[in-house]
Amino acid sequence: MTDASPLPAQQRAVLLPRFGGPEVLEIARRPWPQPVDDEVLVRVSAASVNPVDLNTRRGAFPMVTAEMLPIVLGRDLAGTIELVGTRAHDMLSHGDRVFAHIGFDRGAQAEYVVVKAVELVAMPNGLNFVEAAAVPLAAITAWQGLFDQGGLTAGQRVLIHGAAGGVGHLAVQIAKARGATVLATASAGDLAFVRGLGADVAIDYKGQPFEELVGEVDLVLGLVGGDTQTRSVAVVKPGGMLVSTVDLSDETTAAAKTRGVRVPGRWHAEPNAAQLGEIADLISAGKIRPVVAETFPLDQVKAAHERQGRGQVRGKIVLTVD
Ligand SMILES: NC(=O)c1ccc[n+]([C@@H]2O[C@H](COP(=O)([O-])OP(=O)(O)OC[C@H]3O[C@@H](n4cnc5c(N)ncnc54)[C@H](OP(=O)(O)O)[C@@H]3O)[C@@H](O)[C@H]2O)c1
Repeated sequence: MTDASPLPAQQRAVLLPRFGGPEVLEIARRPWPQPVDDEVLVRVSAASVNPVDLNTRRGAFPMVTAEMLPIVLGRDLAGTIELVGTRAHDMLSHGDRVFAHIGFDRGAQAEYVVVKAVELVAMPNGLNFVEAAAVPLAAITAWQGLFDQGGLTAGQRVLIHGAAGGVGHLAVQIAKARGATVLATASAGDLAFVRGLGADVAIDYKGQPFEELVGEVDLVLGLVGGDTQTRSVAVVKPGGMLVSTVDLSDETTAAAKTRGVRVPGRWHAEPNAAQLGEIADLISAGKIRPVVAETFPLDQVKAAHERQGRGQVRGKIVLTVD
């Protein structure tokens, strides 16, 4: 380990001691973790709130069971490298500004977080810490959904449901940057926002059935489930794909089989620094930009969960840590 500097004996972190409503969340004092090998210790400036945090808190995220509690919440962050593990210091230095999507074995909503070198990249030009923290999990989900799962290529038509939300607002911009025609659904009040992100067509999901407006598409990126998911099968070309970030219903799977639409099974976005680097390049080039709807100090994480849970969030909610 290198670059030791005075650190507090303890740090604050968002702890989930048991499943329940926002009231179960605690701001706990914990020892700061020690980076080893290819890890670094990041002093976190901002960490985003994602729907997975709310699902985890409720006990509705299958990868976190009651026996695993207590855990620190949070999957992505932006901050400054404080300490560098012995095998990481060729590439990374004390003071580097980085952002990261971290594995399920750690939580990002803390003052200090150990991050593996393969999970982080340098922050893109032109973003502050709050904006940078809004990016990693949502943008990597969009990237893996559009390209790894969905095989989207330039010139294809993609329908993105939930286009004004955390994943959707980045998916619209990434798909456009890669030369796709983007059709998008959102609430009526978000249609101008979604068009401003680059969507070629924006549809009020409560106002008119999207099937009447989109024609055939090569890919649906579904960020909502239920009836919307099942109805989406009918607008995908036979041989095309429906990629969902939420579980597929039996109805959707059956309809897809009948129509010859390919549907990947359950998948979770995985940390991937190479992809995050490509996303950072698009941000630095001015091709995509995260939108932060609201910020909350770390100590007000309960209010942040309540806000995220009410919906109608344009872009992302971010916790500020210092
Ligand atoms: N598998 C994975 O690895 C992975 C990764 C990230 C996220 N996810 C999941 O993906 C989903 C989306 O995540 P997110 O961060 O983008 O959530 P989000 O920020 O809450 O965005 C969801 C968006 O969907 C809109 N919406 C709701 N019902 C709709 C409908 N019937 N048609 C069209 N749009 C609708 C909402 O608009 P209004 O609020 O205006 O109604 C909101 O803008 C969540 O369920 C999350 O858990 C999965």
